[in-house]
Amino acid sequence: MKRRLTSFISLSLLLSSCGTAALSSSSSPGSSLPDEEEESNILPFPNADFEYGTLDNWTSEGECFSSLSAVKTASKSQKAIRHIAGDFYLDGFAYKGDAATGSLLSPYFEVTGNGKLSFLLGGGADPSLAYLSFLDREGNEITRKGNDLYYPELPTDRLYRQEVDLSSHLGEEVAVRIVDLDEGTSGFNHLLVDDFRMNSTLSLDTGRLIDDANNYGELMKETVPDTYRHRYHLMPSYGWMNDPNGFLYDGEKFHLFYQANPYDAVWGNMSWSHATSADLLTWEDQGFAITPDQPYDKNGCFSGGAAMVDGTLRLLYTSVGEGNVQTQSMATSYDGVSFSKSSLNPVIGTSMSMGSRATDFRDPYVFEKDGTYYALVGGKLPGEGGQVLLYSSKDFRKWEGVGVTMSSTLTGGGMFECPNVAFFDDKAVLFLSPQGVRDQRLDSFQNVHSVVAEIGSLDLETGKFTNDYGADAMLELDKGFDFYATQIAAKDGKNYLVAWMNHWSRSMPTSGYGWAGEVTLPRELELKDGCLYQHPVSSIYEHFENEVSLPETTASDETVDLGVAGNCLSFKAKLDVSKLGTGARGGLKFFAGPGEETLLYYDRDLGMLVFDRRNSGIKVSEADDDSEDGIRYAAVEPDANGCIELEFFLDVSSLECFVNGGEFTMTGLVYPSSGSDKIELFADGGSVSLLEAKKWDIDL
Ligand code: FRU
Repeated sequence: MKRRLTSFISLSLLLSSCGTAALSSSSSPGSSLPDEEEESNILPFPNADFEYGTLDNWTSEGECFSSLSAVKTASKSQKAIRHIAGDFYLDGFAYKGDAATGSLLSPYFEVTGNGKLSFLLGGGADPSLAYLSFLDREGNEITRKGNDLYYPELPTDRLYRQEVDLSSHLGEEVAVRIVDLDEGTSGFNHLLVDDFRMNSTLSLDTGRLIDDANNYGELMKETVPDTYRHRYHLMPSYGWMNDPNGFLYDGEKFHLFYQANPYDAVWGNMSWSHATSADLLTWEDQGFAITPDQPYDKNGCFSGGAAMVDGTLRLLYTSVGEGNVQTQSMATSYDGVSFSKSSLNPVIGTSMSMGSRATDFRDPYVFEKDGTYYALVGGKLPGEGGQVLLYSSKDFRKWEGVGVTMSSTLTGGGMFECPNVAFFDDKAVLFLSPQGVRDQRLDSFQNVHSVVAEIGSLDLETGKFTNDYGADAMLELDKGFDFYATQIAAKDGKNYLVAWMNHWSRSMPTSGYGWAGEVTLPRELELKDGCLYQHPVSSIYEHFENEVSLPETTASDETVDLGVAGNCLSFKAKLDVSKLGTGARGGLKFFAGPGEETLLYYDRDLGMLVFDRRNSGIKVSEADDDSEDGIRYAAVEPDANGCIELEFFLDVSSLECFVNGGEFTMTGLVYPSSGSDKIELFADGGSVSLLEAKKWDIDL
């Protein structure tokens, strides 16, 4: 816990030291008081950001801006409009297209603060004909600004923040006239304008920050070698990834966002990156969705969820502001790619935290039921223990607290991070990522952070979750090393789960190659007879190739080469452990080569499966408070014939094992040498047999 806290605190330092991602100077530690900050970037007059959704307060002449339709939300038909602020912007094309001309005059407003006025500007191919004119009280032009960021080869319908210096008129009243005299129709002969701000610090330029992040990633991904990179797991092409966020099926495809650092392969600059997929295996990179650019999220856009609201993609995320205070904020995308943060943010403030500490109130997971949106939020009480809270909203903008979903002192000084819920007929399964749960049993809560499921029912009226197995009965989903912070998406009545296939407080051997972090193989969930099962996503089977059926093989106090090899494959078998005597152990070796092996075996005395990566290749150092470095245990019941069913998925540097039809999984990352790819059967002190074994290459 102490370790994590330190990493949160160091975020502001990371931000200020990262040139490309730099926020405004006002965000560097200690440089400004919160009061000063509140006064910067102020709205100079009501509706200067067009958030009324009308032209109220503005005076129009000519055709260009004469209709209310000129104030609009970016729509699906105008896919390219990017980086508006809030929900509305001024669109000089919307009413009569490129050829229309006209002007729009603001009311007079006072020049205050540093005298700088900023605004978002896009389009405007010819700055001599389409520009913003700034007027003094007599109507004389003080200065004029066209879109000097217009280059025909660049997507100019992106809105970037521009600034004019009106400090020579400090304390006086000025107005702005938006002028479009351009009758051309050759493209971009119109202006796109939004969000005037007085006493500007230029800190709100979402467009530049997002484009910088994407451009940097494009450049840097060329430098990332193939070493240890997966073939069918989602991972960043460059930089850092942790929690999956906003996992959602939008009716056509899945969206999966994730916590990402655009500028380094370590945690920091917490932004949301975005990928889409039809089959949950092949992912299309959609670039960065949100990044810290507002006072309320200057210390990070932490985890959250997504929902379709009237056909529009909306995100609810944890905005981490000054002092690492955590609130929940909303962002909207009209084109499914470019997001704007709501002018109502934060939409769930700390006053609604139901007793959670302001610095431990995060990770909203959203879902919709019967026309109402709900958000589960993780929290921590001031003393021992964590809690999960439920909020509801009719429109995704105004949120109300429903109640405390669950609380438990099991987490000690930690909290429940990343709560999610999956619904099955009359049951609900709550997924939690508790920090710091401890247990004396060998196979229980071996990681500093784990993922647990509770099976029961969720009362949406009171917010309360009733656990069918008793208040603190938590089922650990994965007994391996690298599995945290789940997300659930529902499609056609099926629930899919993904998790961050990595972990806190461990070394990241791939950081040196410019990337870190990946998402597990998506898993389909099944609730049967009160038990939860995880199955590999079915689309993976479509990529199985070169099936090899292995003959029944026995290893008696020896290692037997099974004659199959590879590092991107699936392997399925029954392990007959009935002939393992006392003190014996036996099972499989993967990624085997000179001096290297990754073991998954049954220990007869313990009655447990053991995942041992101590000799897998590059060693992973884990947190000193993890129970034992490099080895994990899971109690398992062989069937009546003494067999354990195992299904493995290997992907270059990962191994995921589904045990007994998905009763639980064991997931871990390994870093073997490139030639270590043999599969072997071994037994120590007895014999073990492999039945019905099959191996497939995975072609993706
Ligand atoms: C979980 C977590 C979340 C937080 C995010 C920050 O892994 O700590 O609680 O929102 O990571 O990146």
